[in-house]
Amino acid sequence: MSTARFARQKKRQLGQFLTPENIAAGVVDEIRFSPGMRILEPSFGRGVFIRALQERARRIGVSGEVWGCELDRDFFEAGVSALQRKDSPNLRLHLNQTDFFRWMPSGLSEDFLRKEFYFKRDWEFFDLIIGNPPFGGSIGPDIQDALDAVYGWRHGQKIKKETYSFFVVKACDLLRPGGRLLFICSDTFLTINTMRGLRAFLMASGQMRIREVPGLFDETSHPMVLLDFIKTGARPSVVEVFGQTFSHEEIERTGNLSWRLGGEFSKYFTGATLGDFVVATSGMTTGNNDLFLRPIQDGRVVERLVFEFFEEPITLERERARARLNRLSDAQALKISELARSGATRRNVRWHELHPPRVVALPNLDYCYYNKANNKVIYAPAEWAIFWKDAGDAVRTFKKNGNWYLQGVGGKPFFGKSGITWSLVASRVHAKFLPSGYILDSGAPCAFVREGIPEDELYFILGWMLTDLFNGILKGVINHTRNIQGKDVERMPYPVWVRPDEKRLLIESVRRLVRSASAGDVYTRDSPEILQLNQRYIFRSGTPAVALQPKFVSTQTVFL
Ligand SMILES: C[S@@+](CC[C@H](N)C(=O)[O-])C[C@H]1O[C@@H](n2cnc3c(N)ncnc32)[C@H](O)[C@@H]1O
Repeated sequence: MSTARFARQKKRQLGQFLTPENIAAGVVDEIRFSPGMRILEPSFGRGVFIRALQERARRIGVSGEVWGCELDRDFFEAGVSALQRKDSPNLRLHLNQTDFFRWMPSGLSEDFLRKEFYFKRDWEFFDLIIGNPPFGGSIGPDIQDALDAVYGWRHGQKIKKETYSFFVVKACDLLRPGGRLLFICSDTFLTINTMRGLRAFLMASGQMRIREVPGLFDETSHPMVLLDFIKTGARPSVVEVFGQTFSHEEIERTGNLSWRLGGEFSKYFTGATLGDFVVATSGMTTGNNDLFLRPIQDGRVVERLVFEFFEEPITLERERARARLNRLSDAQALKISELARSGATRRNVRWHELHPPRVVALPNLDYCYYNKANNKVIYAPAEWAIFWKDAGDAVRTFKKNGNWYLQGVGGKPFFGKSGITWSLVASRVHAKFLPSGYILDSGAPCAFVREGIPEDELYFILGWMLTDLFNGILKGVINHTRNIQGKDVERMPYPVWVRPDEKRLLIESVRRLVRSASAGDVYTRDSPEILQLNQRYIFRSGTPAVALQPKFVSTQTVFL
């Protein structure tokens, strides 16, 4: 690997985006120092926060101790030499070059130096933990599962197995009651659903404030925020976000515990969500699109491959290579060795080139339309087909024989059904009608009506998804990353404020649009018919009498 590529990969894996000096100084400047304070910087990089702490301690003439940990040797050495150059008798430093998750602080009594230190919870030692932990970095495969057992669940909610989350949880455990955590963090943290458990944990453990970072980052243009947390152990009544306070009830109504609940959006969260009407799902990955997907041209595909099934001997080596983290338990290894000895086999698939290739006109029993993401709205003709002979036997067999993470077939119960689909990765919702008969791709999540809900709801919801308001709430409150997952759409408010007569008209209008688009008309987001939807779903005051639970009654909403 080239040196530049290695450096890039290391930077990404270790989340190495350093904090500019002025930001570190700005954060440190407002800390109230007390004599003998114990401070920790758990991933100090080149030591910018520790330098700012030294400077401040010297200025105000207070003493204390700072523990620091950094995984990267080059950063560690650069940090140590920069810190040594500084004349700062006030703060005693204890710096280690190691993984924070394996870190054993030096300079402490033997009691603390337990071998299994990193498994220990509620250590309650530090007054202040400060820094900019790696966001989205990977955790060493050899300790992933062990760490997950310690930090993976709090208050009944999953904490994402990722460096930032585990840094925060471990740091909270290390804080004494009343201690403060000041961490810089990507603003995606405020809404992203995978961080829901961490937000719940912080809300339940202390006083939470999200603040602006004092200054701009040069290494990333991504917005960053400052997480300012005081460990109280009690559940306070509000979370403060950029000076606005939100009650836990308000936050809970967003479904994903969003901390981006700006005042203007609160009113849409009436309690009725799209998830009451539709179930949304992701699709599958084939494991190798070139093998199974064919572009459709003029209603035809060109087939260049022939697949055949065969029996392959089971071997321990091969099973280990397919296993998660390439690990098998002793019991699994024993079982596989026995199978191997007895000459057991596994059904597999192989392929060879067809000469000449075959042109196949669609529809054809061996192929299904495949719902890959695109940016069209309302309706898009199928652009891809998947080789799906015998209910996808070749694809499923290929996946079963691949690595562990490929083995499931996402969205399978929904294959073939009609619904709504959109692109997973997009800054806007490119929603369109999904006709029946499709196999679903993971890049294009889909929503389908729940049992007992009339198909008409699909058109009503599709129209809603194409409005600017929907996009604003989705990106502003539910998830402001570029991802639009099924769960995000399920959590969106159902527009109970649209009156029943208007709802009926909307269903007809959207149905007509889908029909005309299927007949060849093209609509974009800027087409007048689409722009008009913005007006028709507009919020009208007058609270609905009941946000009816569609599981029990009809889907009409009653207004007083
Ligand atoms: C976003 S940078 C911030 C560095 C420094 N705190 C600053 O603000 O400039 C994250 C740092 O975490 C380090 N790091 C990544 N994984 C770590 C781990 N498991 N334990 C300790 N440090 C780690 C990286 O090498 C990098 O220096």
